[in-house]
Amino acid sequence: MNLTQARAALQQARRVAVLTGAGVSAESGIPTFRDAQTGYWARFRPEDLASPEAYRRDPQTVWQWYASRYKAVTRAQPNAAHRLLAELEREKGEGFFLATQNVDGLHTRAGSERLVELHGNLTTARCERCGAVTPLPAPDTFTPPPICPACGDPMRPNVVWFGELLSRHALEAATRAFQDADVALIVGTSGVVYPAAGLAPETRRAGGVVIEVNPEKTELTPDMSFSVRDVASRGLAALLHG
Ligand code: OAD
Repeated sequence: MNLTQARAALQQARRVAVLTGAGVSAESGIPTFRDAQTGYWARFRPEDLASPEAYRRDPQTVWQWYASRYKAVTRAQPNAAHRLLAELEREKGEGFFLATQNVDGLHTRAGSERLVELHGNLTTARCERCGAVTPLPAPDTFTPPPICPACGDPMRPNVVWFGELLSRHALEAATRAFQDADVALIVGTSGVVYPAAGLAPETRRAGGVVIEVNPEKTELTPDMSFSVRDVASRGLAALLHG
């Protein structure tokens, strides 16, 4: 498949499922995880910051990391890639589904509505005791940990850590959407973290077209019908507008 065919497949598709990863927010100035120089995991070990064990051992350090990311995300703006995906949703209506691994909330701020945040959202906190979820206080006044308004316990970041299960509801909805999709778009993800990385093969197995947008080759590239080797904003513009 070439770019013209990929564009035509997307245009004709009644059902489109999209998976995004950190790369879609890179042009908003938010670091990815695995990029060699700039990614978070080039500087930190995931097991020290993004695991239930790390949080139990040193909740303050884990919260400081999430609080600094929260502040950065509040200052950042959605970019053209987020906006193009919101535009695609308006075009396809009920046939559109977005599953994001990003916890930055930028898709929602760009206008996406039919989405699930598979790994949670770092602008909110969750109470492990009573399950309450609340938005974090404004970044300038926020000193972690936030206290649960319902039961008074310290709250944790509302994200999914390594070794934790994704919301069953979110994962089932995403799996169905990828199985039903005529076209799946995989944007800005290295495709190494499961179960999210297993979504594209669902579309392929069901006979759909799978298109990747990523400046680099990824683990998922061999499964793709076509790969657009460009950053998310230009790659999506090439697919949507030609
Ligand atoms: P990664 O950091 O693993 O991958 C980012 C991908 O984005 C890479 O394939 C880059 O080539 C690509 N990329 C970089 N700049 C880009 C741009 N401007 N446009 C498009 N693509 C670009 O991030 P994820 O795949 O999202 O989980 O990582 C998956 C999960 O692993 C994350 O949700 C997080 C992480 O550890 C948890 O914290 C549980």
